[in-house]
Amino acid sequence: MKFFLVSVLFFTSQFIFSQKLNLITNIEGRKTTSLNGYWKIIIDPYENGFYNYRYEENPNGYFKNQKPQSKSDLVEYDFDKSDSLMVPGDWNTQQEKLFLYEGTIWYKKSFDYNLENGKRLFVYFGAANYKAIVYLNGIKLGEHEGGFTPFNFEITNLVKEKDNFLTLKVDDKRSREFVPTVNTDWWNYGGITRDVDLVEVPQTFIKDYFIQLDKNFDNKISGWVLLNGDKPKQKIKIEIPELEKIFSAETDETGFCKIGFEVNPVLWSPENPKLYDVIVKCESDSLKDKIGFRKIEAKDGKVLLNGKPIFLRGISSHEEVPFTGGRSYSKEDAETVLNWVKELNGNFIRLAHYPHNEKIVRLADEMGIMIWSEIPVYWTILWKNEATFENALSQLQAMITRDKNRASVILWSVANETPRNDERLAFLTKLIENARELDGTRLITAALENHYINDSTIVMDDPLGKHLDVTGLNEYLGWYDGLPDKISKINYQTIYNKPIIISEFGAGALQGYHGDKLTRWTEEFQAYVYEQQVKLMRRVPNLSGMTPWILSDFRSPRRPLPGIQDFWNRKGIISDKGIKKKAFYILKDFYEDVKKNGL
Ligand code: GCU
Repeated sequence: MKFFLVSVLFFTSQFIFSQKLNLITNIEGRKTTSLNGYWKIIIDPYENGFYNYRYEENPNGYFKNQKPQSKSDLVEYDFDKSDSLMVPGDWNTQQEKLFLYEGTIWYKKSFDYNLENGKRLFVYFGAANYKAIVYLNGIKLGEHEGGFTPFNFEITNLVKEKDNFLTLKVDDKRSREFVPTVNTDWWNYGGITRDVDLVEVPQTFIKDYFIQLDKNFDNKISGWVLLNGDKPKQKIKIEIPELEKIFSAETDETGFCKIGFEVNPVLWSPENPKLYDVIVKCESDSLKDKIGFRKIEAKDGKVLLNGKPIFLRGISSHEEVPFTGGRSYSKEDAETVLNWVKELNGNFIRLAHYPHNEKIVRLADEMGIMIWSEIPVYWTILWKNEATFENALSQLQAMITRDKNRASVILWSVANETPRNDERLAFLTKLIENARELDGTRLITAALENHYINDSTIVMDDPLGKHLDVTGLNEYLGWYDGLPDKISKINYQTIYNKPIIISEFGAGALQGYHGDKLTRWTEEFQAYVYEQQVKLMRRVPNLSGMTPWILSDFRSPRRPLPGIQDFWNRKGIISDKGIKKKAFYILKDFYEDVKKNGL
């Protein structure tokens, strides 16, 4: 009875979140029309297309896509005679003049659409950095804040058969109260950075669902289904043909229905990333997905996958296009990155410091690579600012909503390298509570910082650790903290009987620059740090995984050193041109050994 009540409360809060967020999931399983390609743009550093000269919102802004109606008419912009940018894609790497640009760019896409009778239409954005205001045919659809999470708007009653124009004001200006805030060690790539799709659905459609192995029972699938439309109360079915399983139930007047049924699936794991075809059906809609079932737990200082201790052989990675740079979005880019993880003998990746695109998460499902997924609560944001909290919370909700059915995602991270103080603790504790309410099947973590209790002893005793399942720890022994020789002198302790993941260690090296092992920026220095660090890893208590910083060099505005960095963070073990550095092979060999012989 108690379990039933707890589960009702738990699922009801998820239902409320899903309603509020209004995000449609599993876009690739639906009828879509891509709006990717070239979009017309207007670069608008003074936001002249939005404000009038009194800095009031202009009802006749560029979103109206006006054209002179007569030879005397005054219209001082024209999308169709203007430049174009590729969507998806950041603007910084598409035009030299936009490399350092931070501000507003207006995007316009014209399209025709023949909407079938009785159907509904949504426009779905994988992401746009940072703030987007969206209009269709001059009418405002809504706004979205946050550069790394999806959003959608319904356009059923606005779309015309011919000559629709979708316009966006995208602004990537940084600001103190934003998430992330003004300083990050990654490039502020602006633009419509992920796919844009028109999504056609029935009047009442399957908006969202959560189908995962139950946290408390190995042979039970639990979750919920949520319909949206004018016939919310419908019979639904969950079918898993390969398991000859059909579960039937009925949604309530809000379109919500809990699900729970017995199954004995082959459990998903890196060795056997088994995915099942799962079909969700209601009377007016049907949706297919590929879902893996696995159990992830933290117990007595260990991470357990399907009940067995596992060591997470990982690497950190930014969402940067391999070989060229720029914000990545494609399946090909994801394949390159995840194949490098495999080449490293890895089974885990930390997608830093923000939710990456859905393609890499779904590919990790297929390839059997576990994921640490994170929201950009990075360094020192405004902990006391209510809008900052709401913003962080909506990014958390969107991240979990989009990827909650992905077996590969095992950890939700709520923060990276945040300062110890009461406001921060209160802020992050509230986020963690929300994350647990949204998804009780995964582990919650954060990347914390070193705390010395004497010259050679570091203790994991951050008060936030109490609220986490797994404590992540970033340490730069041998790079920011002493020279590589120092690493062997350090001991770690923890006050928590919880797993530790060393979520960052590393050193910078310019690929091809060689010298003795104490000459900074040489491959030998970086390799020496790795040699020392992997030895240290064997001495860290409760160590359950690691994600060295970082898989490949990535752009950063904080790294100007000429001839070495040139706006690249050089801590990659692979260069920005995709060339492996010496440290790559040290980590590869270490993981081979751990894979064979354990830590
Ligand atoms: C930090 C931070 C990273 C950064 C790295 C570095 O720990 O989390 O975002 O890039 O250190 O300094 O290279």
